[in-house]
Amino acid sequence: MKKFLVIGNPIEHSLSPKLHNFWFKKNNINANYDKKKIDKSEIQEVILEIKNNKLNGINVTVPFKSDVIPFLDALSEESQITQSVNTIYMHNKKILGHNTDIKGFELSLRETRFNLKNKIIFLLGAGGVVPSMIYALEKLGVAKIVVSNRTKQKALRLKKNFPNISVVDWGDQPEFDMIVNATSLGLSKEDDIGLNLKDINKEKFFYDVIYNPKETNFLKAGKSLGCQVSNGKMMFIYQAFEAFKLWHNVKPEINEDLKNYLDS
Ligand code: ATR
Repeated sequence: MKKFLVIGNPIEHSLSPKLHNFWFKKNNINANYDKKKIDKSEIQEVILEIKNNKLNGINVTVPFKSDVIPFLDALSEESQITQSVNTIYMHNKKILGHNTDIKGFELSLRETRFNLKNKIIFLLGAGGVVPSMIYALEKLGVAKIVVSNRTKQKALRLKKNFPNISVVDWGDQPEFDMIVNATSLGLSKEDDIGLNLKDINKEKFFYDVIYNPKETNFLKAGKSLGCQVSNGKMMFIYQAFEAFKLWHNVKPEINEDLKNYLDS
Protein backbone atom coordinates (compact mmCIF):
# COMPACT_ATOMS: atom_id res chain seq x y z
CA MET A 1 0.00 0.00 0.00
CA LYS A 2 1.31 3.45 -0.93
CA LYS A 3 1.63 6.00 1.84
CA PHE A 4 1.22 9.76 1.78
CA LEU A 5 1.48 12.42 4.45
CA VAL A 6 0.82 16.09 5.03
CA ILE A 7 3.23 17.76 7.43
CA GLY A 8 2.79 21.09 9.19
CA ASN A 9 2.30 22.74 12.55
CA PRO A 10 -0.55 23.04 13.47
CA ILE A 11 -2.04 20.22 11.39
CA GLU A 12 -5.24 19.08 13.19
CA HIS A 13 -7.51 21.08 10.89
CA SER A 14 -5.96 19.96 7.60
CA LEU A 15 -8.57 18.54 5.23
CA SER A 16 -5.93 17.03 2.94
CA PRO A 17 -6.25 13.46 4.33
CA LYS A 18 -10.04 13.57 3.96
CA LEU A 19 -9.75 14.75 0.37
CA HIS A 20 -6.99 12.43 -0.83
CA ASN A 21 -8.46 9.35 0.89
CA PHE A 22 -11.83 10.12 -0.74
CA TRP A 23 -10.16 10.20 -4.16
CA PHE A 24 -8.23 6.96 -3.44
CA LYS A 25 -11.53 5.20 -2.87
CA LYS A 26 -13.20 6.72 -5.93
CA ASN A 27 -10.27 5.73 -8.14
CA ASN A 28 -9.54 2.32 -6.58
CA ILE A 29 -6.05 3.32 -5.56
CA ASN A 30 -4.52 1.20 -2.82
CA ALA A 31 -3.06 3.99 -0.69
CA ASN A 32 -3.43 5.83 2.59
CA TYR A 33 -2.97 9.53 3.36
CA ASP A 34 -2.25 10.69 6.90
CA LYS A 35 -1.30 13.91 8.69
CA LYS A 36 1.61 14.55 11.01
CA LYS A 37 2.41 17.50 13.22
CA ILE A 38 6.16 17.97 13.27
CA ASP A 39 8.78 20.38 14.56
CA LYS A 40 11.25 22.00 12.22
CA SER A 41 13.98 19.68 13.52
CA GLU A 42 12.08 16.62 12.22
CA ILE A 43 11.81 17.71 8.57
CA GLN A 44 14.92 15.88 7.37
CA GLU A 45 13.87 12.63 9.03
CA VAL A 46 10.42 12.69 7.41
CA ILE A 47 11.79 13.47 3.96
CA LEU A 48 14.29 10.60 4.28
CA GLU A 49 11.32 8.23 4.48
CA ILE A 50 10.70 8.99 0.82
CA LYS A 51 14.23 7.94 -0.07
CA ASN A 52 13.76 4.75 1.99
CA ASN A 53 10.48 3.96 0.22
CA LYS A 54 8.48 4.18 3.43
CA LEU A 55 6.57 7.13 2.06
CA ASN A 56 5.48 7.86 -1.52
CA GLY A 57 4.65 11.53 -1.22
CA ILE A 58 4.45 14.45 1.17
CA ASN A 59 2.36 17.60 1.16
CA VAL A 60 3.78 20.49 3.13
CA THR A 61 1.75 23.17 4.81
CA VAL A 62 2.31 26.16 7.09
CA PRO A 63 4.98 26.96 8.27
CA PHE A 64 7.40 24.61 6.48
CA LYS A 65 6.98 25.36 2.77
CA SER A 66 10.41 27.01 2.57
CA ASP A 67 12.07 25.04 5.35
CA VAL A 68 11.86 21.75 3.42
CA ILE A 69 13.90 23.08 0.49
CA PRO A 70 17.45 22.32 1.79
CA PHE A 71 16.51 18.63 2.14
CA LEU A 72 15.39 18.13 -1.47
CA ASP A 73 17.48 17.03 -4.47
CA ALA A 74 15.75 19.23 -7.04
CA LEU A 75 13.05 21.87 -7.34
CA SER A 76 10.57 22.68 -10.08
CA GLU A 77 11.02 26.13 -11.59
CA GLU A 78 7.91 27.39 -9.80
CA SER A 79 9.18 26.16 -6.42
CA GLN A 80 12.53 27.76 -7.11
CA ILE A 81 11.10 31.20 -7.88
CA THR A 82 8.56 31.16 -5.05
CA GLN A 83 10.92 29.39 -2.62
CA SER A 84 7.86 27.42 -1.65
CA VAL A 85 7.24 23.66 -1.85
CA ASN A 86 3.95 21.98 -1.00
CA THR A 87 4.38 18.65 -2.84
CA ILE A 88 7.30 16.23 -2.54
CA TYR A 89 7.90 12.91 -4.31
CA MET A 90 10.57 10.68 -5.77
CA HIS A 91 11.30 10.88 -9.48
CA ASN A 92 14.25 9.17 -11.21
CA LYS A 93 15.79 8.45 -7.80
CA LYS A 94 15.71 12.12 -6.87
CA ILE A 95 13.54 13.77 -4.24
CA LEU A 96 11.67 16.52 -6.06
CA GLY A 97 9.90 19.55 -4.63
CA HIS A 98 6.99 21.05 -6.49
CA ASN A 99 4.56 23.90 -5.87
CA THR A 100 0.92 23.13 -6.72
CA ASP A 101 -0.45 26.16 -4.83
CA ILE A 102 0.24 28.27 -7.92
CA LYS A 103 -1.90 26.12 -10.20
CA GLY A 104 -4.43 25.76 -7.38
CA PHE A 105 -4.85 29.52 -7.12
CA GLU A 106 -4.87 29.93 -10.90
CA LEU A 107 -7.56 27.28 -11.47
CA SER A 108 -9.70 28.70 -8.66
CA LEU A 109 -9.45 32.16 -10.26
CA ARG A 110 -10.34 30.84 -13.72
CA GLU A 111 -13.43 29.24 -12.21
CA THR A 112 -14.64 32.59 -10.82
CA ARG A 113 -14.64 33.99 -14.39
CA PHE A 114 -13.46 37.34 -13.08
CA ASN A 115 -11.38 38.83 -15.90
CA LEU A 116 -7.96 39.62 -14.42
CA LYS A 117 -6.30 40.91 -17.56
CA ASN A 118 -4.81 44.38 -16.94
CA LYS A 119 -6.38 44.61 -13.49
CA ILE A 120 -4.87 46.04 -10.30
CA ILE A 121 -4.56 43.53 -7.47
CA PHE A 122 -4.30 44.58 -3.83
CA LEU A 123 -2.72 41.71 -1.91
CA LEU A 124 -2.84 41.68 1.90
CA GLY A 125 -0.15 39.58 3.59
CA ALA A 126 3.37 38.37 2.85
CA GLY A 127 3.33 34.88 4.38
CA GLY A 128 3.97 31.42 2.95
CA VAL A 129 1.35 31.39 0.21
CA VAL A 130 1.87 34.92 -1.14
CA PRO A 131 4.78 34.23 -3.56
CA SER A 132 2.62 31.52 -5.19
CA MET A 133 -0.24 33.98 -5.57
CA ILE A 134 1.99 36.63 -7.11
CA TYR A 135 3.46 34.05 -9.51
CA ALA A 136 -0.04 32.98 -10.64
CA LEU A 137 -1.36 36.55 -10.93
CA GLU A 138 1.60 37.67 -13.05
CA LYS A 139 1.09 34.66 -15.30
CA LEU A 140 -2.57 35.63 -15.71
CA GLY A 141 -1.55 39.04 -17.04
CA VAL A 142 -2.61 41.46 -14.31
CA ALA A 143 -1.43 45.06 -14.71
CA LYS A 144 -0.16 45.65 -11.19
CA ILE A 145 0.17 43.92 -7.83
CA VAL A 146 0.27 46.05 -4.68
CA VAL A 147 1.30 44.19 -1.52
CA SER A 148 0.62 45.35 2.02
CA ASN A 149 1.80 43.51 5.11
CA ARG A 150 1.81 44.38 8.81
CA THR A 151 5.55 43.72 8.82
CA LYS A 152 6.51 45.82 5.80
CA GLN A 153 10.01 44.36 5.59
CA LYS A 154 8.55 40.96 4.69
CA ALA A 155 6.61 42.50 1.81
CA LEU A 156 9.71 44.33 0.60
CA ARG A 157 11.65 41.05 0.65
CA LEU A 158 9.25 39.68 -1.99
CA LYS A 159 10.66 42.22 -4.43
CA LYS A 160 13.83 40.17 -4.75
CA ASN A 161 12.06 37.49 -6.79
CA PHE A 162 9.12 39.64 -7.94
CA PRO A 163 10.65 43.03 -8.77
CA ASN A 164 7.48 44.35 -10.44
CA ILE A 165 5.31 44.39 -7.32
CA SER A 166 4.63 47.60 -5.37
CA VAL A 167 4.60 47.70 -1.58
CA VAL A 168 2.52 50.05 0.59
CA ASP A 169 2.24 50.53 4.34
CA TRP A 170 -0.15 48.36 6.33
CA GLY A 171 -3.39 50.35 6.59
CA ASP A 172 -2.92 52.17 3.26
CA GLN A 173 -5.55 51.50 0.66
CA PRO A 174 -4.63 51.95 -3.00
CA GLU A 175 -6.99 51.76 -5.99
CA PHE A 176 -7.72 48.14 -6.89
CA ASP A 177 -9.94 45.84 -8.98
CA MET A 178 -9.36 42.75 -6.88
CA ILE A 179 -8.47 42.58 -3.18
CA VAL A 180 -6.99 39.38 -1.72
CA ASN A 181 -6.74 38.52 1.96
CA ALA A 182 -3.73 36.23 2.37
CA THR A 183 -3.24 36.99 6.06
CA SER A 184 -4.44 34.78 8.85
CA LEU A 185 -6.86 37.54 9.93
CA GLY A 186 -10.30 36.03 9.63
CA LEU A 187 -9.54 32.60 11.05
CA SER A 188 -11.29 33.85 14.20
CA LYS A 189 -14.82 35.02 13.59
CA GLU A 190 -14.25 38.37 15.31
CA ASP A 191 -11.07 39.23 13.31
CA ASP A 192 -11.23 42.49 11.42
CA ILE A 193 -8.80 43.42 8.66
CA GLY A 194 -8.95 47.06 9.74
CA LEU A 195 -9.46 48.65 6.33
CA ASN A 196 -12.19 51.08 5.43
CA LEU A 197 -13.94 48.98 2.82
CA LYS A 198 -17.04 51.16 2.51
CA ASP A 199 -16.61 53.39 -0.56
CA ILE A 200 -16.00 50.60 -2.99
CA ASN A 201 -18.05 49.97 -6.12
CA LYS A 202 -19.55 46.60 -6.83
CA GLU A 203 -17.24 45.83 -9.77
CA LYS A 204 -14.50 44.77 -7.35
CA PHE A 205 -13.64 41.19 -6.50
CA PHE A 206 -12.94 40.04 -2.93
CA TYR A 207 -10.88 36.85 -2.51
CA ASP A 208 -9.99 35.28 0.83
CA VAL A 209 -7.49 32.43 1.12
CA ILE A 210 -9.30 31.34 4.29
CA TYR A 211 -12.09 28.80 3.76
CA ASN A 212 -12.88 27.95 7.36
CA PRO A 213 -14.92 29.95 8.38
CA LYS A 214 -16.59 29.94 4.97
CA GLU A 215 -17.27 33.64 5.09
CA THR A 216 -14.81 35.86 6.94
CA ASN A 217 -15.72 39.43 7.95
CA PHE A 218 -13.62 40.49 4.97
CA LEU A 219 -15.83 38.52 2.56
CA LYS A 220 -18.95 39.67 4.38
CA ALA A 221 -17.87 43.26 3.78
CA GLY A 222 -17.37 42.53 0.07
CA LYS A 223 -20.71 40.82 -0.20
CA SER A 224 -22.58 43.66 1.49
CA LEU A 225 -21.07 46.03 -1.09
CA GLY A 226 -22.53 43.83 -3.83
CA CYS A 227 -19.08 42.64 -4.95
CA GLN A 228 -18.18 39.19 -6.24
CA VAL A 229 -16.52 37.18 -3.45
CA SER A 230 -14.65 33.89 -3.24
CA ASN A 231 -13.10 31.97 -0.36
CA GLY A 232 -10.03 29.72 -0.60
CA LYS A 233 -11.83 26.40 -0.78
CA MET A 234 -11.37 25.85 -4.50
CA MET A 235 -7.71 26.83 -4.25
CA PHE A 236 -7.31 24.16 -1.59
CA ILE A 237 -9.12 21.56 -3.71
CA TYR A 238 -7.18 22.41 -6.87
CA GLN A 239 -3.75 22.32 -5.20
CA ALA A 240 -4.64 18.80 -4.03
CA PHE A 241 -5.94 17.94 -7.52
CA GLU A 242 -2.58 18.94 -9.01
CA ALA A 243 -0.63 16.92 -6.41
CA PHE A 244 -2.90 13.92 -7.06
CA LYS A 245 -2.21 14.14 -10.80
CA LEU A 246 1.56 14.24 -10.19
CA TRP A 247 1.52 11.30 -7.79
CA HIS A 248 -1.04 8.99 -9.41
CA ASN A 249 -1.30 10.16 -13.00
CA VAL A 250 -5.05 10.37 -12.50
CA LYS A 251 -7.32 13.41 -12.73
CA PRO A 252 -9.69 13.06 -9.76
CA GLU A 253 -13.23 14.30 -10.17
CA ILE A 254 -14.26 17.58 -8.55
CA ASN A 255 -18.02 17.93 -8.16
CA GLU A 256 -20.68 19.17 -5.74
CA ASP A 257 -20.67 15.83 -3.85
CA LEU A 258 -17.01 16.28 -3.10
CA LYS A 259 -17.45 19.89 -1.97
CA ASN A 260 -20.34 18.88 0.32
CA TYR A 261 -18.36 15.93 1.66
CA LEU A 262 -15.50 18.27 2.65
CA ASP A 263 -18.00 20.48 4.51
CA SER A 264 -19.52 17.53 6.38
P1 ATR B 1 4.16 33.01 7.97
O1 ATR B 1 4.22 34.52 8.10
O2 ATR B 1 4.87 32.28 9.06
O3 ATR B 1 4.46 32.49 6.61
P2 ATR B 1 1.42 32.74 7.37
O4 ATR B 1 0.27 32.15 8.13
O5 ATR B 1 1.72 32.23 6.02
O6 ATR B 1 2.67 32.63 8.29
O7 ATR B 1 1.22 34.32 7.26
C1 ATR B 1 0.53 35.04 8.17
C2 ATR B 1 0.22 36.39 7.54
O8 ATR B 1 -0.83 37.01 8.29
C3 ATR B 1 1.40 37.34 7.58
O9 ATR B 1 1.33 38.18 6.46
C4 ATR B 1 1.13 38.12 8.87
O10 ATR B 1 1.72 39.39 8.93
P3 ATR B 1 3.20 39.56 9.57
O11 ATR B 1 4.16 39.20 8.48
O12 ATR B 1 3.27 40.99 9.97
O13 ATR B 1 3.27 38.61 10.73
C5 ATR B 1 -0.37 38.26 8.80
N1 ATR B 1 -0.98 38.52 10.11
C6 ATR B 1 -1.15 37.62 11.11
N2 ATR B 1 -1.77 38.22 12.16
C7 ATR B 1 -1.99 39.50 11.81
C8 ATR B 1 -2.57 40.63 12.45
N3 ATR B 1 -3.08 40.52 13.70
N4 ATR B 1 -2.63 41.80 11.79
C9 ATR B 1 -2.11 41.91 10.54
N5 ATR B 1 -1.56 40.88 9.86
C10 ATR B 1 -1.48 39.70 10.49
